[in-house]
Amino acid sequence: MKVLVTGGAGYIGSHFVMESISMGHSPVVYDNLSTGHEWALGGAAFYKAELSDRAFLYDVLKKEGIEAVVHFAANAYVGESVVNPRKYFNNNYVNTLGLLDAMVEAGVGSIVFSSSCAVYGTPDRMPITEDTPRAPINPYGLSKLFVEDTLKWYAQAYGLRYLALRYFNAAGAAPDASLGEVHEPETHLIPLVLLAGEGVRPQIEVFGSDYPTEDGTCVRDYIHVLDLASAHLKALEHLGEGGPSGAYNLGTGRGHSVMEIINAARKVTGREIPIGLTPRREGDPPVLVADSSRAREALGWESAYNDIETVIEHAWGWLKAAIEKGRL
Ligand code: UFG
Repeated sequence: MKVLVTGGAGYIGSHFVMESISMGHSPVVYDNLSTGHEWALGGAAFYKAELSDRAFLYDVLKKEGIEAVVHFAANAYVGESVVNPRKYFNNNYVNTLGLLDAMVEAGVGSIVFSSSCAVYGTPDRMPITEDTPRAPINPYGLSKLFVEDTLKWYAQAYGLRYLALRYFNAAGAAPDASLGEVHEPETHLIPLVLLAGEGVRPQIEVFGSDYPTEDGTCVRDYIHVLDLASAHLKALEHLGEGGPSGAYNLGTGRGHSVMEIINAARKVTGREIPIGLTPRREGDPPVLVADSSRAREALGWESAYNDIETVIEHAWGWLKAAIEKGRL
């Protein structure tokens, strides 16, 4: 399938592009480089353009003979979404609506959409299945829910076929350290822990140690970015074979606390990694762990990197390479 990848220069999108090129595909990236990086494109065909430019988007879909879209492009800072919801509803929802309309008009029938565990809000039962009620607690999660529901109605009305993939915590990097994450600002736990290990930051702040978890720190399900990439390849295969539309969780099913991540990072790096205990960050649910059995059954997908130390090892390799190349 000829695939358009929005946000293909971003963290998760670029790993998908790399994996799909290695499988012999020719993805076409569409990205405005607002948060992505040109060096992450890996030689893929590239349009530097705005998602809001619907006429141009339509032309690209037609000109490139696009058959399916993998839609990563979005803003993804939960905290920012609370203080600037307009940005999230416009970029994540309104622009996606424009993309869907351009697809319908251009006759592009399939889309894989980057959703998030943020659609679930603060569920009280773990692990989270796709039947867990969706009840986002911030505009970021709500923007993803809006798209999910829109996809359902577009499927019914216009025959669009879709898979919404609800990622848990994306982590890790390419094992050969050729690609990884660079966020500005960086807010994610694993890179921040490793930056403290490298001495770029003085310490890692642990946001809250009074959660109702074993060691009092938040528990998350960290999934390797290459496992997310392979799930998207499976999702495209599924849609290509005429499989039904739907939404699937993507996680490992294993939760790790903030302190477990820090201790694993200490082991992997051999560094001290000083910590500071600070109050809870607003809006952080105590535990988020995925039940991804439906994705495994429906897509034939398996996560390959199930050991948190391997995930951290790859992130560490990338961090050092990125500093060396001046990318961090
Ligand atoms: N944390 C710290 N210190 C830090 C940074 C994070 O203790 O300096 C903790 C957080 O409190 C949280 C855990 O580490 O408990 C993971 O935090 P991240 O910021 O790395 O990830 P989140 O779980 O907040 O966010 C992720 C995705 C979002 C998605 C969200 C859904 O990055 O896109 O999950 O809850 F929306």
